[in-house]
Amino acid sequence: MEFTIAVLPGDGIGPEVVAEAVKVLEAAGRRFGHSFEFKRDLVGGAAIDEYGVALRNETLKMCRATDAVLFGAVGGPQWDDPTARTRPEDGLLALRKGLGLFANLRPVKVLPMLEDSTNLKPEVVRGVDMVVVRELTGGLYFGRPKRQWRTSKGRRAVDTMAYADWEVERIARVGFELARQRKKKLVSVDKANVLESSRLWRQVVAEVGREYPDIELENMLVDSCAMRLIQHPIDLDVVVTENTFGDILTDEASMLAGSMGMLPSASLAGIPVTGKRSHGLYEPIHGSSPKRAGMNVSNPIATILSAAMLLRHSLGLSREAGLVEGAVRSVLEDGYRTYDIFRDGTKRVGTAEMGELIAAKVGM
Ligand code: IPM
Ligand code: MN
Repeated sequence: MEFTIAVLPGDGIGPEVVAEAVKVLEAAGRRFGHSFEFKRDLVGGAAIDEYGVALRNETLKMCRATDAVLFGAVGGPQWDDPTARTRPEDGLLALRKGLGLFANLRPVKVLPMLEDSTNLKPEVVRGVDMVVVRELTGGLYFGRPKRQWRTSKGRRAVDTMAYADWEVERIARVGFELARQRKKKLVSVDKANVLESSRLWRQVVAEVGREYPDIELENMLVDSCAMRLIQHPIDLDVVVTENTFGDILTDEASMLAGSMGMLPSASLAGIPVTGKRSHGLYEPIHGSSPKRAGMNVSNPIATILSAAMLLRHSLGLSREAGLVEGAVRSVLEDGYRTYDIFRDGTKRVGTAEMGELIAAKVGM
């Protein structure tokens, strides 16, 4: 089959890790007889430098016309001025909003050979396999008003956490559908003891839950969830939550898997039911790591696993996705590690070598 994929490497280490994911996709294409046309463009700081905006309209249009978007990372100290008119992150937020990518899936899976690469005790992280469903186009990130102003008594700023019932309903459905494909348990995370938007969230999730009598629903407060994540993470399977809560909890959860360099994500415009394809954007959950840019040391696995999610959710190629995930496991079993997951007794490799080892397994 033929597919078109938008490739937006972005800033910092983005281009390096994305290049390895493209190698792996090409290897999968060769093996199974698919052809991928990659359409590259600038985003984030790179686009600000070249065009003065973090995301051009034509880039958004180009992305809409493709089967999926592969994204690296954006940001860096040179664009960090708090008074700047535009920031690299605006490009990513505009893509999420502009492509209607309301459902962000962040799987956290602890692989047995990396159990001792974390700062937590191996017996705490052993067997952890969860997916956090983060609402991605509403909540505190997008609510209005959102501004900063001067008053006679000093400066003030406001952000707004706002939800409409239909926004909660569709993300709750994503949670329930995934739970149905997994352990039939859903944890909905909110702050309903304090926030009104969370009280609406909790009501709507319960209403949707009536359509899923086979799924056990548990409500958890976000502070409590932050604790449970490191206290007894094995209890969690599918977690659904607000945009900002999901942002914070998934950085925390990434530490269970040893490194942010291991965690992929999929941002989808539809509800992932088996056998249905959704348009989506796929990116590692880590940032642009400007200090390591161009050094060929960063871990490309998060981006490669994101490419596997792209194959599964946007192209409907589950077998190919499974093969890529198996290749990652197999290269780790062979003892190869980038610096972030390196331990004595393993073999240290750079970004490109890790990508080539995985692509070679995919092609075998
Ligand atoms: C993430 C990132 C982004 C976010 C930034 C880069 C805007 O931290 O994808 O988790 O906050 O959503
Ligand atoms: Mn984040």
